[in-house]
Amino acid sequence: MSTSVLKPIPHSTAIILAAGKGTRMKSDLPKAAHTILGRSLIKWGISAARQAGYERIVVVIGSGEDYMREHLKDAGVELVVQHEQKGTGHAVAVALDQTKIAEGIVAVFYGDTPLIEPATLARVAEKLSEDEKNAAAILVTRPKDPSGYGRVLLGKSGVVDAIIEDRDCSHEERDTLVDCNPGIYAFDATELYKNIKRLGCDNAQGEYYITDMIGILRKEGQSVQSVLVEDDSQLMGINSQVQLAEAAKVMQLRINRAWMDEGVFMLDPNLVWIGPDVVLNRNTQVLPLTFLWGTTEIHEGAVVGPNTRLSNTIVGAHSVIDETVAQDVRIDEDVHVGPRAYLRPGTHLKRGAHAGTHIEIKNSTVGEGAKVPHLSYIGDATIGEGVNIGAGSITCNYNGFEKNKTVIGNRTFIGSNTMMVAPVSLGDDVITGAGSIITEDVESGSLAIARERQKNIKGYTKKYRASHNKE
Ligand code: UD1
Ligand code: MG
Repeated sequence: MSTSVLKPIPHSTAIILAAGKGTRMKSDLPKAAHTILGRSLIKWGISAARQAGYERIVVVIGSGEDYMREHLKDAGVELVVQHEQKGTGHAVAVALDQTKIAEGIVAVFYGDTPLIEPATLARVAEKLSEDEKNAAAILVTRPKDPSGYGRVLLGKSGVVDAIIEDRDCSHEERDTLVDCNPGIYAFDATELYKNIKRLGCDNAQGEYYITDMIGILRKEGQSVQSVLVEDDSQLMGINSQVQLAEAAKVMQLRINRAWMDEGVFMLDPNLVWIGPDVVLNRNTQVLPLTFLWGTTEIHEGAVVGPNTRLSNTIVGAHSVIDETVAQDVRIDEDVHVGPRAYLRPGTHLKRGAHAGTHIEIKNSTVGEGAKVPHLSYIGDATIGEGVNIGAGSITCNYNGFEKNKTVIGNRTFIGSNTMMVAPVSLGDDVITGAGSIITEDVESGSLAIARERQKNIKGYTKKYRASHNKE
């Protein structure tokens, strides 16, 4: 997915309102912190504003202030706090007051509109700049179901006369006015700054509405223009859990379609979830019930899924990752993983390696062409090239206090069910006997066998059974 800036908008600021609690979400999390494909609603908004070309981005926070501050600390935005939520107009007033922005273009939109595309966000500023006489421009949409939206009173050729909130509409207005306000505005900053104190709160909610600014500017004889956006799916505001899920579906398919257009095969795009920062390549396959999160990269010709969850994981070319959970892992080319493998942070599987079924690997390197095929736990280990780890083998890396390292040289053959009690080091070309408990280092080229010798007792079975059947 492209993240480049479309075209810088000179002297522009985007103010994103995200101070509301989001009562209708019925959640302890502030509304703007809810996520869609691993990215919060507010970060979707910030990303769209940045890509649209806005120079300065100001986010108004309030509810859950500490949480939001922490959440946005590396987002590269200016934060403004609206301590009491007295409405969207009040939020803008607080932002202007604290930032003192009184020149250029100020775009205002809401942190609960995550599907907005950068180009759409740029259009409202373009509309404003078309004519010097414009004091504001807004987007207008005609959704199938207008309930809940503020209604836009349109005059001739797209001139906006006023916005009336849904709750303040008469029955007749609610039924007849089809032009809706998605909440995306661009203002001439000087006019906005000059008039912001004139907003009143004489309405159904007793709040200061930014939507009233349109009527105020018109009464001043200013021009306010509109742009109709046909694709209303990107203008959806999230106010409830149901809408959050609906928006996630739209975003999921938007991302998946973009990757399919780049040559990625998906058996069913409805059953694949890909985060916005993931990178895929041509000729890759993403099979059903697969989640790709964070900065995961899937290289040319690799197959991931089904039933797979990868976070911040790099999958090399032509590797196959089947029914696997992996986080912070590096997988080189031609590696085969799974089915049913768990790869934890710090794992590096080198070229041609194989990590098979019911295995867990953590903070370990598996060398080129080495195999960990069945039922193993490998932790804090370095495994050389061409090593074979027999079924059921385990690195005993934890003594209850510290984690210790296991080092295994090249071409070493670990017999099934070998316990390697770390810290321990096995050289190149070592063989361990099946069932051995290795507690001491093993020199290259040696056989290490550490188990009880087998004793066979002739005729024992008959005596044993007889002793149990006495009565
Ligand atoms: C708002 C618009 C409505 C529009 C709709 C589109 C107003 C008055 N109404 O209604 O015309 O059709 O969005 O989705 O603007 N916020 C603050 N501080 C506050 C109040 C709200 O920062 O004091 C933030 C919220 O966090 C939210 C955004 O502003 O992100 C919008 O608030 P919300 O309550 O969702 O407004 P809507 O009822 O959806
Ligand atoms: Mg809303």
